[in-house]
Amino acid sequence: MVNKPLAYGPLVFSTRWLLSPLAGFTNLPFRRIVREIGGVGLCTTDLVNARGLLSGSEKTHELIATCPEDSPLSVQIFGHEPPIMAEAARMLEARGVDSIDINMGCPVNKVTKTGAGASLMCERDKTIDLVEAVVKAVKIPVTVKMRLGWDETQLTAPHFARAFEDVGVAAIAIHGRTRQQGFSGKVNRAGIRAVVEAVKSIPVIGNGDVLTVADAETMLRETGCAGVSIGRGALANPWIFRQLAQWEATGTYDPPGSFQERLELLRKQFGYVIELRGADRAAPFFRKMGHWYMKAMRVPAALRHALQLAKDAAEVDAVLARVAEQGPTIGTKTGLLPDLHISVPAGPNAHW
Ligand SMILES: Cc1cc2nc3c(=O)[nH]c(=O)nc-3n(C[C@H](O)[C@H](O)[C@H](O)COP(=O)(O)O)c2cc1C
Repeated sequence: MVNKPLAYGPLVFSTRWLLSPLAGFTNLPFRRIVREIGGVGLCTTDLVNARGLLSGSEKTHELIATCPEDSPLSVQIFGHEPPIMAEAARMLEARGVDSIDINMGCPVNKVTKTGAGASLMCERDKTIDLVEAVVKAVKIPVTVKMRLGWDETQLTAPHFARAFEDVGVAAIAIHGRTRQQGFSGKVNRAGIRAVVEAVKSIPVIGNGDVLTVADAETMLRETGCAGVSIGRGALANPWIFRQLAQWEATGTYDPPGSFQERLELLRKQFGYVIELRGADRAAPFFRKMGHWYMKAMRVPAALRHALQLAKDAAEVDAVLARVAEQGPTIGTKTGLLPDLHISVPAGPNAHW
């Protein structure tokens, strides 16, 4: 077990357990919830288009909305033009963001066809120049998140990690799959280890398929990474960071929340969504997240569906009253629920 606290340059974190960026989920309301439960060292936003930030689009500004409790915070940006990426980083630094993360992992065609996201891993010199331009533009730490490479024949991550360290990147987060792999197969921990071995001294964050404390322990042990970032596991179990912090401190940890506790958490998160967008626009925004809560709470299919159809805050409240009354399909309202099977994402995010 590593003992040194995780740090990105001068930015030292309270734990080595980080929330991975998840487009459509890692918005301010969810980050507030995860932080209130405790144990998370750093949260990162969804990926944000650097051009969109500079043009001041409402959508991108909602993605970077924050509050004093939402700290430390990293904003993930994507793009392929060095001056635009550098300017976006400067703007975020001026707004008080603690760290900038460059997206080099996004395999979605919409992003790669512009030369951004994972396609940057195919363009050696240009990519290093782009990262250097961002590092030079700001004083706050800049990190890069990437996959192992484009495909099995091009496992370029170790090489890039070393080159990024040389131009001043403060840490690398690595999802142990290739772009071509999408979410299939198992995470390649030997591939992550190769990245850990390639860098001189910056921390490498291991990522992929960590759903439990045991998975995190395996990730640390087999890769030698300095921290672990968790995406889907946090949707299924927002208590995972607290469990990991407890485990690291004491060797044991509390179970995740019961049906009742999850319902309270859902209500709180929905309240934060209303704060962010108003009662009229909160329900559609919350649908994707609501789906994960309903699944984890073992809510009957008809009620899960009813939540998806709710159009405003009053309709959401009415569905939640029925959810509270009926309880879970397996187990009790206050006991331990069975673990959730985590599916591979479908639709346009299928290759994340
Ligand atoms: C729905 C969804 C959205 C994602 N959005 C992003 C994103 O915006 N930026 C990014 O770098 N990775 C994104 N990812 C990838 C995750 O950060 C993470 O690398 C991947 O899910 C593997 O970790 P996990 O097994 O802990 O989920 C996304 C993944 C999913 C499932």
